[in-house]
Amino acid sequence: MRSAFFSALALATLASAEIFITEPVASTTCTAGVACYVRWNDDANTPALASIGPCQIDLMTGGQQQQTLLQNIAPSLDVSTNSFVSYLPDATVGPNGADYFIRFQSLSLKSTDNPAYPYQSFSAKFTLNGMTGTFNSTIQGQIDGTSGTTAAATSAAAATSNAASSSASKAATSAANASASAKASASATASANGVLKGLAAPGAAATALLGVVLGLVGFAI
Ligand SMILES: *[C@@H]1O[C@H](CO)[C@@H](O)[C@H](O)[C@H]1NC(C)=O
Ligand SMILES: *[C@@H]1O[C@H](CO)[C@@H](O)[C@H](O)[C@H]1NC(C)=O
Repeated sequence: MRSAFFSALALATLASAEIFITEPVASTTCTAGVACYVRWNDDANTPALASIGPCQIDLMTGGQQQQTLLQNIAPSLDVSTNSFVSYLPDATVGPNGADYFIRFQSLSLKSTDNPAYPYQSFSAKFTLNGMTGTFNSTIQGQIDGTSGTTAAATSAAAATSNAASSSASKAATSAANASASAKASASATASANGVLKGLAAPGAAATALLGVVLGLVGFAI
C-alpha cells in the first residue's frame, strides 16, 4: 500500500528539543518485508515525551525542503508510554538506497516555532534493501534538493546543526547509553529536516508491533 503527500517547508527553523531517536541511525540497514525497528527515548530537554504524546509515525523520503510520506508506521502511538515500534518496510515504495528516514508528528503538541504546525522530529537517513519500487521525478527532485530555495535549506541546515549538537551534549550526560545516544544525535545532525507544513493524512494500515513501556528514561534496548 502506498500513500503519499507533499509538504512545503514552512520557515526554516527547527525545534531544539526532540524525541531522541536511537534507531534508525545513519548506519542502520533494514530489508523490505523484514521487521525494522524505530526506538526512542527522552533527551531530557523540553518538551518531555509526555507533552509530545500520541504521534503519527511515518517512513519518509525527501530533502530539507520537501518530503514525501511513503508508508505509515503508526497512525497514533503515545511516545511517552511506548519506546519502540516495529514495521515491515513495503518493498514497493521506493528503490534500494539510503534516502529513507522516520518522521514523528505529534497529534496534539504544536511546533514551538510556529503553532500552526505540529511538533515534528526526524531520524537520520538510513538504508533500505530488498526494495522493488522507484522514485518518480518529483521525489527525486526533493532528494536532490532541486525543489525549493537554497537559502532556506542552508538556514534550516544551520539551525538543525546547532540544535542537534547542543542536544547531543546534553543527552550524552543523561542517557543510559551515552555512546549510542551521541552517535544517534550526530547522525541526526547530518540529515534532520526543517519544519513541515500541513498535516499528513492517515496512511495505510500499520503493520505495527507496539513497544512495551520501559521504566527507565534513556534505557537502550
Ligand atoms: C510521484 O510519486 C508521488 C508518491 O506516489 C505522487 O504523489 C506524485 O504525484 C508523483 N509525481 C509524479 C510527477 O508522478
Ligand atoms: C550502547 O550502544 C552501542 C551502539 O549501539 C552498543 O554498541 C553498545 O553495546 C551499547 N551498550 C550498552 C551497555 O547497551
